[in-house]
This record gives sequence, C-alpha cells and structure tokens, in this order.
Amino acid sequence: MPQLIDGKAFAASLRERLADSVRTLKEIHGVTPGLAVVLVGEDPASQVYVRNKGKQTVEAGMASFEHRLDASTSQAELLALIDRLNADDAVNGILVQLPLPRQIDEAAVINAIDPAKDVDGFHLTNVGRLATGGDGLVPCTPLGCLMLLQDHLGDLSGAKAVVVGRSNIVGKPMASLLLANHCTVTIAHSRTRDLAGECRAADILVAAVGRPRMIPGDWIKSGATVIDVGINRVTGEDGKNRLVGDVDFDSAAAVAGAITPVPGGVGPMTIACLLRNTVEATCRQKGIDPGAILPG
Ligand code: GUN
Repeated sequence: MPQLIDGKAFAASLRERLADSVRTLKEIHGVTPGLAVVLVGEDPASQVYVRNKGKQTVEAGMASFEHRLDASTSQAELLALIDRLNADDAVNGILVQLPLPRQIDEAAVINAIDPAKDVDGFHLTNVGRLATGGDGLVPCTPLGCLMLLQDHLGDLSGAKAVVVGRSNIVGKPMASLLLANHCTVTIAHSRTRDLAGECRAADILVAAVGRPRMIPGDWIKSGATVIDVGINRVTGEDGKNRLVGDVDFDSAAAVAGAITPVPGGVGPMTIACLLRNTVEATCRQKGIDPGAILPG
C-alpha cells in the first residue's frame, strides 16, 4: 500500500496553528481578521461550502460576515456590495462564491475586489504576481496541494510534475506554484495527445479534471506522488451515492508511492488555506510581517 496523504489531519492542524496566529494578532496588534463571504443564489453545493467557511472562520477566532443575495441580484447590486466591503476596515478578506448566476459577469466581479482583500487569489493582479514570482495571494486549493506535497516530499526541486486540468481555479495556478518550486511542469488536458504517456512520466501527478476515476493505475509511475483534486459524486452498484476522485484510487494505490484519498485529501485543505490567506491579507494590510505570524 502507498502512504496515504491525510489532508483532513493536516488541515485540522493548520487550522489550530492559524487560531494561534489569530490570538497573537489580537493580543499583540489589537487586530481581529475578518472574512466576508458573498453567496448569490441557492446553489446547494455552494450553500454547504459557504456554511462551512463561516463556521471554520469563527472557530479560528476571526470575524465572519456572510452576505446572501437573491439569485436575481443584478451585477450593479453585487458590484455596489463589493465596493462597500472594499471600503470596510473590519473586512480583510472578500470571497464571492462561484459560480455566479448567468446575468453576472464573473470576471468583472472578481476584478472589482481590492487585490489586497482577494483571498481567493483570482484577481488579475494576484494571478500576475503568481505568474511572475511576486508576493500575492494564491488560490486556496492549489496552495493546499502544494502544502501537502511539501509536507510529504520536502524539497520539490527537479521533480517532473504533471497537472491534468487547465482551469483558472486549480490547474493553471497549480502549475505556476510547482514551477516556482523548481519542478519541471507539464499541463495536460482533454486534448493532450498522449495523456497516459504524459501521466506515466510524472514524479508528481496532480489530477484536477472533474471526471470520476478518469486516471487509472496503469497511467501512474511506480512510486509517484498523486494528488487528487477531484470530488465527484457517483452512484455505486448498491444505488448509494459516494464521492470519488479523478483518479481510480484502488488501481492507483497499487503503484503510487503516496496518494491523497477522496474524501479526506485535498478537500479539507481549501478552507484551511482560505483562513491562512485571510490572516496573510490582514497582516499585509496592517503592515505586519506575515512571516512572523503565519504557521511555518
Ligand atoms: N467555487 C468552487 N471553488 C471555489 C473557490 O475556490 N472559490 C470561490 N470563490 N468559489 C468557488
């Protein structure tokens, strides 16, 4: 059996260490970090995410501000709320839950957020900073994947990393982070000619395509580290719903050196990294060195 990379335990430990950071910010600097989460509409999955974000924000000792808007909200109304949150000193981080209803232009909304408060790392300024090696806020899911990789492998220098998936939320920022950590990086996707061959060359394989069990064990190099970002709901032969990743866990586990399970792998890291980004954003806004506050 390969080593299981326990994201659930790592995220729990990160949240505890962040709660210590928040205590320090309050006691020494008199600052309580605040995170505003905006949900437009009633998408059931988004409602669950938003509830969990609020709960974990409060558990870490931070202030949580939730804004739930009707599905018919106009772009102008949403932009007006973003303006108010940008100007609010109690709000250090702003997250607008995606997807947004059709009448709203996602890019316009994301780019209206003050980049210093963009804890999702989706604003063009933060995307540019990540691509050019600057100090910006980094998207939460790829940041969580990187932390798990560094915890498991230490230095990633020289490793051949293959990212399957090219989304703006995961695939592209993941590739930038791996490159910044001195990996040789390939981004593969649905039109890649020899996807199996590309995957077989990977020391580090990150799967972020959103297709249940798309990557079988015989696409994986012996001893590779596999990070499965997929969270897909499937109906089993017994008629019950369960969550599976983008990697076929059973066949992959027979060859990989280490692998993240689904659930309990990458998933819990996303909110933990959102809390981390909120603490980092707060420090920068207040002129406090994040390196002196954030967990190492
Ligand atoms: N919807 C799915 N994932 C995300 C995420 O990481 N951030 C936001 N804002 N919305 C999402």
